[in-house]
Amino acid sequence: MRVNASLLLAASLLASNASATALSAPLDSGAAPITPRKAFPDPNYEELEKRGVIDELVNKIVSEIESAVTCVGCQALTTALKGVAHLGDTVFVKVVTAVCSGLKVQDSDVCTGVVATEGPVIAKMLRSMTIGSRTNKVICSSLFGLCDAPDLLPYPGTIPPPAAKQKRTPLSTRSSAKPLKFVHISDTHIDRLYKNGTNTKCNKPICCRPYTPGDDVGKTQNPAGPFGSVGCDTPVTLQQSLYEAIKQTASDADFMIFTGDIIDAALWLQSEEDTVSGMRDMYTRISNSGVAKKVYGVMGNHDTAPVNLFPVSEPETSYGSALPYYNEMAANVEKWVGAKAAKSIKQNSGCYSVVHPGTNLKVISISTNFWYNMNIWAYADNGMDAARDPGNVFKWLTGELQSAEAAGQSAYIIGHMPPGIADALPDYSNYFNKVVTRYSSTIKGMFWGHTHSAEFEITYKDATSRGHQNAIITSYVTSCVTPRSANPVFRVYTVDPASYQILDYDHYYTSIADIAYGSTKKPEWKKLYSAKKVLGPVVNPPLPANAPLSPAFWHNLTVAFENNDGAFQAWFDRKIADFHTAENCDADCKQKEICQMRASSTELSCYKGSISGLVKRDLITSGAAIREVDEYLHRGPRTQHGTLQCGGHMLEVFMKMARDKESIRKIVATGVMGRPVL
Ligand SMILES: *[C@@H]1O[C@H](CO)[C@@H](O)[C@H](O)[C@H]1NC(C)=O
Ligand SMILES: *[C@@H]1O[C@H](CO)[C@@H](O)[C@H](O)[C@H]1NC(C)=O
Repeated sequence: MRVNASLLLAASLLASNASATALSAPLDSGAAPITPRKAFPDPNYEELEKRGVIDELVNKIVSEIESAVTCVGCQALTTALKGVAHLGDTVFVKVVTAVCSGLKVQDSDVCTGVVATEGPVIAKMLRSMTIGSRTNKVICSSLFGLCDAPDLLPYPGTIPPPAAKQKRTPLSTRSSAKPLKFVHISDTHIDRLYKNGTNTKCNKPICCRPYTPGDDVGKTQNPAGPFGSVGCDTPVTLQQSLYEAIKQTASDADFMIFTGDIIDAALWLQSEEDTVSGMRDMYTRISNSGVAKKVYGVMGNHDTAPVNLFPVSEPETSYGSALPYYNEMAANVEKWVGAKAAKSIKQNSGCYSVVHPGTNLKVISISTNFWYNMNIWAYADNGMDAARDPGNVFKWLTGELQSAEAAGQSAYIIGHMPPGIADALPDYSNYFNKVVTRYSSTIKGMFWGHTHSAEFEITYKDATSRGHQNAIITSYVTSCVTPRSANPVFRVYTVDPASYQILDYDHYYTSIADIAYGSTKKPEWKKLYSAKKVLGPVVNPPLPANAPLSPAFWHNLTVAFENNDGAFQAWFDRKIADFHTAENCDADCKQKEICQMRASSTELSCYKGSISGLVKRDLITSGAAIREVDEYLHRGPRTQHGTLQCGGHMLEVFMKMARDKESIRKIVATGVMGRPVL
């Protein structure tokens, strides 16, 4: 996320990414029957046009876009957009759609669908935002990357200090009992409308659907394979193959965690019905496959419609509530987590906890969606002006950890978005870090997805001194099931049954591109590596065979990566499971990657993913800067960090605009005003 320009912004917000959802809208026309959210102040468009109001606004926006390469320009642009938003949701949607389609950010049906669904919430947010406010600055920094981030606000809650005497579970003593085992999958992004034999190289965020007659089976030179293709989301056949592979590999697993994002990236076609039925479909298949005795899931940012939008105040009656998705998740997981946890999902914005039966291990599932910078509701009503705890998630989490500590339990935290990446809003990332640091003796691991790339991040007791003695928690981020831009993976962890420390994990994958259309081959799932076996010998001193993968070990691995480039590059290749890309990691990339491993909070991350972080602002319009940004955008999936996966198109739009202002003027004139291109 980042970018720029606004409108585009919006536009792109939309269009961006990798996001998405939905099923079942008619595919033939490409133009799904999108019902815009209820429009608020909605004056007569024709009347405004007659009075020249629209023309004036468009000119204003275009001129602001031209100068929106600086923080000041970004604020001017948000001012112009706010002006459009005040004319009503309908006008706003028309203007943004015109820019998105005109710039060819995406096909016009994609622009139309995305802007129709997300535009009204963006317009509502802009109407409620004060120009020049801290919220305005956060939008221009976290979302567009054009301002420096404002200073962090203090944590608004209270965190109880440790009791004088704490019950402690033993650390580092490996018990002789049989290890526990659990499976980790993430980011399935299942496309129920995937069609074997359709075009894999379309012009939309995801392909492998018969969008046009030319995309259909027998008509395309690039037919999709029977189990999935690069550029496309997960067909049901691949989903079933995954469950079979897990059953064959880890039938003795005690439970499975799923760190979110069920819905596919056809975000322009999404609807409440499709998202709800998509969630139900995946949970039902998991259940019917018998792949796991228990499944502990989380809410991903794609598991709502429109994508990313989770209102902070519920029930949200006018612009779309997320309650149907919390309710759907609760209904599906109740058989594994029990009635109390299911109720918590509905009452606590998707959050719940469960003590795994027969253990002293509490699994705490949190929703990270209020902390995601693409959740427009985070900014509504000047939401970033004062310190707060949206949905009381921090308060809830603190209570869960406090009671685990009091009971002498160990805890795992599972969630969708890793809190240390640039996608997280800095204040919330910082608050999360404060809470978990306090309870680090209880927390034995944190597990995430979202980035589509396998990573780890270390939490330190003191971020100003990041060494092995201070490393207190490890975040494990697994890569995705969708073959969109990575090979599908699952992980199997082994756990000390007394201390609940992670002993090891095995990382399995299948190379989906091996199975071409028409082939009768089935996916072959193979072990890519065992963590202890390949990483243990890399650190100095080497990790003893019976030692756990402690936070100190992971820190030592980052030191080893600094000194041993071969070991680092091998890790880099494993991030997307040996998926082939031309991407390589030079010295600058390596420094950022290692920095990210040591960042449990966004203010520590070296990935800003923003224009300002990439090039000097005064160079932004020069050819050299444009090339630099272009190169950054076209880096491969290992370093995109979710940030660009979800916002790269915004940046791209901006760069196109910077190069070709005249055509933007024409596009807006034609698309919005209905006048011929001059
Ligand atoms: C995919 O299409 C091919 C060619 O028509 C067919 O042989 C194959 O069975 C199909 N596979 C699946 C999984 O539908
Ligand atoms: C990490 O490295 C330090 C310094 O080399 C060493 O003393 C410590 O034992 C290592 N810790 C682990 C868990 O390997």
